[in-house]
Amino acid sequence: MSPASVATAAYLIAAILFILSLHGLSKHETARSGVVYGIVGMTIALLATAWVTAQNAWGDPAAVTGLVLLVVAIIIGGAIGLWRARVVEMTGMPQLIALLHSFVGLAAVLVGWNGALHDEGIAPDLIGIHHAEVFIGVFIGAVTFTGSIVAYLKLSARISSKPLMLPGKNILNVGALVVFVALTVWYVITPGLWLLVVVTALALALGWHLVASIGGGDMPVVVSMLNSYSGWAAAAAGFLLDNDLLIVTGALVGSSGAYLSYIMCKAMNRSFLSVIAGGFGIEAPRKDGEEEVGEHREIDAQGVAELLTSASSVVITPGYGMAVAQAQYPVAELTSRLRERGVDVRFGIHPVAGRLPGHMNVLLAEAKVPYDIVLEMDEINDDLSDTSVVLVIGANDTVNPAAAEDPSSPIAGMPVLRVWEAENVVVFKRSMASGYAGVQNPLFFRENASMLFGDAKDRVEDILRAL
Ligand code: TAP
Repeated sequence: MSPASVATAAYLIAAILFILSLHGLSKHETARSGVVYGIVGMTIALLATAWVTAQNAWGDPAAVTGLVLLVVAIIIGGAIGLWRARVVEMTGMPQLIALLHSFVGLAAVLVGWNGALHDEGIAPDLIGIHHAEVFIGVFIGAVTFTGSIVAYLKLSARISSKPLMLPGKNILNVGALVVFVALTVWYVITPGLWLLVVVTALALALGWHLVASIGGGDMPVVVSMLNSYSGWAAAAAGFLLDNDLLIVTGALVGSSGAYLSYIMCKAMNRSFLSVIAGGFGIEAPRKDGEEEVGEHREIDAQGVAELLTSASSVVITPGYGMAVAQAQYPVAELTSRLRERGVDVRFGIHPVAGRLPGHMNVLLAEAKVPYDIVLEMDEINDDLSDTSVVLVIGANDTVNPAAAEDPSSPIAGMPVLRVWEAENVVVFKRSMASGYAGVQNPLFFRENASMLFGDAKDRVEDILRAL
């Protein structure tokens, strides 16, 4: 068997493992095995690539240097990746993911430029296709690169999460796409490096503008959309490098990311096209986001313990604040204590609660909350009106009645957990500040709602002591 056929066989096995990995990651119960399939697939892919390079290097000093560089790059990259994955906090995951997407984008730009500078040996009848691959790869890669950097800066609160509202922003985006198509045709017909410089600059600016124009409330979709872009950027690099596995893996990431973005848009009642077009048709949020709209009531831990003792059913709706406070462990303890007393306790999880898809599910699984009492928003919403007590733990936008009742709200139409329909609602947070979307929450001023101020972990521990 030639080295090339061994590599093809290894790549095929890796591709199948990646498909199994995606399938595993779609459910809690199989998520771990999904991750293992992914690791094994990637290890096979890396070993096969290194082995083929080693075979080709035999007797060629330049190729030996290439092999040494490859191994050094794998060791350095692997060590940095391992270190970051070990030290990252759950709350820092979305920005880390955004940063990793930017690397894929940058890699696609570099591969594209390399392909443009070294196109010797390409058959004359294929050179046009090669130039198109270079141009498209550089474009997608550069959009992904700057778009992911802006997402990283917004998610890590290094820049404001408010949408940038340049005059004529939609025309700018559409204009950039039209110019890209025209430049691609020009480059295929008469290639010139200056055209590549122009498209790189254009795509860097477009990526920046697309994500800067999207408001905080739509960031979850942006993260999965950039995930999809990074997949297509990798696929484009795969075409240039003539690497089948990179094409298949890129297409898997690209299509699964696009589908995830679509599901999230549906969950937030956003138009998929308007979000990927940089907030096309989405209004800027009103400036009155922090204004209080009534009087709120406060409750203490003792009061909540009394409410819970007399409750027959309790629903807990966690949000980003639970992740910040690391309150999942006392929340799990509270759940088991109440269940021992015969109280029906369930969790209601909003699809975009927290800062990344599945954030709450991961935290609750970590604290060993049984899967069967953790329900999706659609599964629990109709039961909330028959619930004695809802504990809103560090959630805000995902339980905001304005989304359902105020058509002028920036989050209007986003499906929310209708916690205000319960008999009693207790909101755990540290202040009256607004949530991620920067919108005031009228829930806090409802007659059946009380605020329990303080760090969510400390307050749940206080309730445990009072029970
Ligand atoms: P948010 O609307 O961000 O509200 C979280 C609340 O937690 C805040 O109001 C904050 O109030 C409170 N909090 C923070 N630290 C706390 C602590 N230590 N103890 C107690 N409370 C604390 O969160 P959500 O309801 O989960 O909604 C998610 C939002 O994030 C949505 O707008 C969503 O679009 C966006 N988003 C989601 C994702 C994904 S993929 N899920 C990604 C990016 C953005 P205080 O400051 O007053 O304590």
